[in-house]
Amino acid sequence: MQRDWWKSAVVYQVYPRSFADSDGDGVGDLGGILERLDHLVALGIDVVWLSPVYRSPMDDNGYDISDYQDVDPLFGTLAQLDELIARAHAAGMKIVMDLVVNHTSDEHPWFVESRSSTDSPKRDWYWWRPPRPGHEPGAKGAEPTNWGSAFSGPAWTYDETTGDYYLHLFSPKQPDLNWENPEVRAEVHRMMSWWLDRGVDGFRMDVINLISKVTVEAAPGLPEGAIGGRDPRGAGVIDTSEYGDTHPHVVNGPRLHEFLQEMHREVFAHRGPGLLTVGETPGASVEDARLFTDPDRGELDMVFTFEHVDLDSGPGGKWDVVPYRLLDLKRTFGRWQEGLADVGWNSLYWGNHDQPRAVSRYGDDSPEHREASAKALATVLHLHRGTPYVYQGDELGMTNYPFRTIDDFEDLESVNRFRAATSRGDDPDEVLDALRYKGRDNARTPMQWDASPQAGFTTGTPWLAVNPNHTEINAAAQVDDPESVFNHHRRLIALRHDDPVVAHGRFTMVLPDHDQLYVFTRTLDDSTLLVVANLSSLPADASELPDAAAWLAAETVLESGRSDSPGWVLGPWEARVLRRTGGL
Ligand code: NOJ
Repeated sequence: MQRDWWKSAVVYQVYPRSFADSDGDGVGDLGGILERLDHLVALGIDVVWLSPVYRSPMDDNGYDISDYQDVDPLFGTLAQLDELIARAHAAGMKIVMDLVVNHTSDEHPWFVESRSSTDSPKRDWYWWRPPRPGHEPGAKGAEPTNWGSAFSGPAWTYDETTGDYYLHLFSPKQPDLNWENPEVRAEVHRMMSWWLDRGVDGFRMDVINLISKVTVEAAPGLPEGAIGGRDPRGAGVIDTSEYGDTHPHVVNGPRLHEFLQEMHREVFAHRGPGLLTVGETPGASVEDARLFTDPDRGELDMVFTFEHVDLDSGPGGKWDVVPYRLLDLKRTFGRWQEGLADVGWNSLYWGNHDQPRAVSRYGDDSPEHREASAKALATVLHLHRGTPYVYQGDELGMTNYPFRTIDDFEDLESVNRFRAATSRGDDPDEVLDALRYKGRDNARTPMQWDASPQAGFTTGTPWLAVNPNHTEINAAAQVDDPESVFNHHRRLIALRHDDPVVAHGRFTMVLPDHDQLYVFTRTLDDSTLLVVANLSSLPADASELPDAAAWLAAETVLESGRSDSPGWVLGPWEARVLRRTGGL
């Protein structure tokens, strides 16, 4: 196995709860993934990233773990996970697990023990702080700092047992682990090694750049967060109108690189090159990413940037929706391509279980343009330098769900947001509009396998409603159709495997100021690929591109949404990939 094998690989994210249900309880499970493995084989992907299947009270759908070394009965058994690993390996695919170690569930035995007494040997495994002096413990305002949680409300919860507060950057059922404590780190390393020994091929590390908080030296007087501000590093999640901005104190903290290097040394360094590590790093800049992913530093293989998914967030954070503009997207992606050209590596994604559907956000999900826009977006993403991640259903062009009222939402982030904002007096319709556009449940509706009543997802009642458009958009309708969004993805994935220019070529943005077209070249040795995509619902003229005449005569590698327009006029959402060899 080559050291950088993941440069020519494509990762597919499975969100098990919504992928396929084998036992009719309405929740997807490992049995369902096993039954549908052929779908992934047909797509040709290399790696499956499995969102959490560990034991969990499911407050945040498994991102709140109460046992890191077992499978939740809702999803199946450890034996089924072993079978999945074995069958994936036999089919030439790897399995990457989600690693959620910024926090545990409050039902994890470590936390249960930690909260039991101030003398507990595990007390220091979490972030405990006394109430703010001069305030009634447990009353509003008595929190140790004014930090807000990512899921609305304060980031501290009062615990009557000992009269202290504990920190949770997410829900109160997700207390933050204290990585300053060496026992915590050793225990996490041991658990990771246990999974690698079992055969998993790496980890997607949940909010890994939050594990080092502001130093303990600052304690107990932890700093306040700015009210009404927004972290200039763009993490963009937290509404700071009521609680302070937590991010400057917890994102990319002082010991982060040390912790990652230690993890690499302890867990990965002595193992072969076949593993993959990808860090979820909200608020990380290109400069941070260079440090995380420089192979000489021994930290991570790649990270997820949030910059492009924050482009439609205004100064008020994630729910302050502003229109997204293609020019901003090109500038952002362009900066990341350039910044990681010589050192480190990019991850490429449009969507995941935390983002709305790509085609509804960056494309045009109207019946007229949905398919062409899904293909054009995929073309642009997969032809960039970096490892593409396909979120389940995006290979079919699945869209956002037509939510009517707040009762249609399940996700705690959306439900809490609605409650917090409307109780402050925000207009419920406006709050709902933002949730409809950006809510995470858009990505979590069941996978659309076929046109049958529950889309082939379950024989029972699905935990979250199936999108009514499954009668049109589904795998069964696409797998054998050469023109489908699915088969377009299959071709893009095969192209990355077959053509080293896609994996290794230099990236150059072309027509950077064009506000409809996304154009770039990839070059390796004497071979150049030109990607021209019209990311708009109107025709676009690309005749200004350098060497336009020669490119018009070049070999077509892939195309989609082809219109009858002549020459360099591209139809709405048309995309072309062309190749020229020999010195240009
Ligand atoms: C990021 C995960 O992707 C998201 O789903 C989760 O809610 C938070 N981290 C907390 O674990």
